[in-house]
Amino acid sequence: MTEQHVTNQGQRRVFLIGLSTNASNIDYELEELANLAKANQLIPEIIFSQKLERPNPATYFGKGKVDELAEAVKTYDVDMIVANDELSPSQIRNLEKVTQATVLDRTGLILDIFAQRAQTKAAKLQVQLARLQYQLPRLRTSMSVSLDQQTGAGGGGFTSRGSGETKLEESRRRITSQMVHIRQELADLSKGEDTRSARRTANNLPNVALVGYTNAGKSTLMNRLLARFGIGAESDDTKQVFEKDMLFATLNTTVRQLTLPDKTQFLLSDTVGFVSKLPHNLVAAFKSTLQEAAQADLLLQVVDISDPHYKDMMTTTENTLREVGVTNIPMVTVYNKADKTTLNYPDVSGENAITLSALEAASQDALITLIQKHVFKDNETVTLHIPFDQGAVQAKLAANHTFIAENYDDSGTLLTVELSQLELEQFKKYII
Ligand code: GTP
Repeated sequence: MTEQHVTNQGQRRVFLIGLSTNASNIDYELEELANLAKANQLIPEIIFSQKLERPNPATYFGKGKVDELAEAVKTYDVDMIVANDELSPSQIRNLEKVTQATVLDRTGLILDIFAQRAQTKAAKLQVQLARLQYQLPRLRTSMSVSLDQQTGAGGGGFTSRGSGETKLEESRRRITSQMVHIRQELADLSKGEDTRSARRTANNLPNVALVGYTNAGKSTLMNRLLARFGIGAESDDTKQVFEKDMLFATLNTTVRQLTLPDKTQFLLSDTVGFVSKLPHNLVAAFKSTLQEAAQADLLLQVVDISDPHYKDMMTTTENTLREVGVTNIPMVTVYNKADKTTLNYPDVSGENAITLSALEAASQDALITLIQKHVFKDNETVTLHIPFDQGAVQAKLAANHTFIAENYDDSGTLLTVELSQLELEQFKKYII
């Protein structure tokens, strides 16, 4: 890389290229691609788009446009091109040959960002697995050089060009065996996860999961609710999750327990944010992370209503949820960041939508009320008769319920309380 390719801040200038097909929403996609590039410390310089029915199988763009691109690469002295779609290995090779620039596709770009953001061991392994899967058929492109450096795979890319099939075969074998190793490590890790998740299920608490497009405000909402309703100031459950104005700030799922003033409790989880055309192997890799959403009793789809493309973002989120098998779970749409718009908030419309600002207490209260309506809707108010010699039962109920009425007769306490369906079963013999 020469001096001219980078700015003072060491950021690389790039061209973005995208195809406008009948099915695509090219303006939105290219804007999103520009944001992804920026999230990866790249500076989008010029955008090239072409209207084509389908990508040219050899060079993605048609010949004329590729020549124009090659010319611009020389004129502007840019050495990297980022494509809006996942390209085949041969499309990358051909484009690199004609333009003499490194070609990175959308999948490679997203993988790079995920690799930088991964914090936990599981997230790091999941991303690494997805990168290796992606790298395997692309060993002869320059993209694999940067992947090599980050995955530690070594061998592929320009470095092995011309060094023969043996070297290539060696790289393939090394990557395949690394993949086997990572899968095993992930399986071992997920055994521990299962135990934790089983422990949570054993608590019988309703599970509410935040889902949504990246940067919508999921972590902010979680943190604001935790600050008010997380249990025990020093406990793990009040630990804030990472929130930042950047794409994919959260890669791992965090689950926290919330206790409301009336002592009712539920679990809240924050999950990875979505973006359109999320690479398939990445979605597969994060499936286990998304299990929390798959097991939820209620999904809160957080939407940045201040973004003009919020509808596309909702479609992206809903498609991704379907892809990872999260279907048939009741969902409330949370139109967030209303403070950046002229909309009224908090504003509840029906049972399944609310407009709010995560930053404001009245909004948080309105959301909590809506969540309660959903997750406690099957609760029933009953009166229990607890004999005096069974004080432990009463103590257990008192720990997470506010009694509506408390009276006594000769043999025990009469408690009027709202119970979940599970509790109704559990305390059946005391119900009068
Ligand atoms: P990912 O981790 O990328 O999926 O993002 P996220 O959905 O968790 O978003 P996050 O909570 O990190 O918020 C993204 C940015 O939006 C942060 O800078 C927040 O401060 C900001 N933000 C979140 N909610 C609101 C809101 O209601 N109003 C305003 N003005 N800003 C908000």
